[in-house]
Amino acid sequence: MTNFVALIPAAGSGSRIGEAAPKQYLSLAGKPMIYHAMNAFHLTPRITRICVVLAPEDDHWDRYDWSRFNDKLMILRCGGATRAESVTNGLQSLRASREIQDQDWILVHDAARPGLSIALVERLLDQLVEDDVGGLLATPLADTLKRANRDHRVACTESREALWQAQTPQMFRAGMLLKALQTAPVGITDDASAIEAMGYSPKLVMGNAYNFKVTYPQDMALAALVLQEKNKI
Ligand code: CTP
Ligand code: MG
Repeated sequence: MTNFVALIPAAGSGSRIGEAAPKQYLSLAGKPMIYHAMNAFHLTPRITRICVVLAPEDDHWDRYDWSRFNDKLMILRCGGATRAESVTNGLQSLRASREIQDQDWILVHDAARPGLSIALVERLLDQLVEDDVGGLLATPLADTLKRANRDHRVACTESREALWQAQTPQMFRAGMLLKALQTAPVGITDDASAIEAMGYSPKLVMGNAYNFKVTYPQDMALAALVLQEKNKI
């Protein structure tokens, strides 16, 4: 049987948001940020496991009650220096403990995307379950694109045709993803890039703006509004 496993890298420090606590623990709608993405996976029946990769020195996780997720939750304290390392370490640990097989689907999702909905997870699963490669949620670019010169003036306007912004979850087979990450060029910022570097072409599945990544201080207010709207649905 092929399983669908959510893997949430949550070992970052949130340097760009500049708060004392790592951003995945900042409070949104009365819960730590990571809770909201975990909940979307928890409420998606086909997802059988939610694996959270923490930094080994994380002393925030145990301050909260996660019992709601008990039947699916697995904590891995093996985060690395980069997101790619955290995902790689998580996959290696799951494989070593025989929690995953090479053909299982892994949905890697940023802890800092609390706007993920059950509908988006279901759409990704529906569109990729028969796919040979896998893929990711993404949205077509809406704004006009300017390339800057060194003086911060416009060098030229770039066509936005066929350009998409990558989101997560990014869904690939465990074996292929681990191999891709282990041989990936340094500096990649998502999982699909590693798969692309092996010569594959991941499928783009339509995401939405609610699923944005909380990165800068002003994003917290926006995320709070998104969660209010999401809860109305
Ligand atoms: N992440 C991780 N391990 C790292 C770095 C990042 O697991 N060494 C995780 C983050 O916790 C987050 C996701 O990868 O869930 C996306 O990363 P990003 O938004 O860049 O978060 P941070 O690295 O924490 O933030 P910043 O880059 O501003 O420091
Ligand atoms: Mg980062």
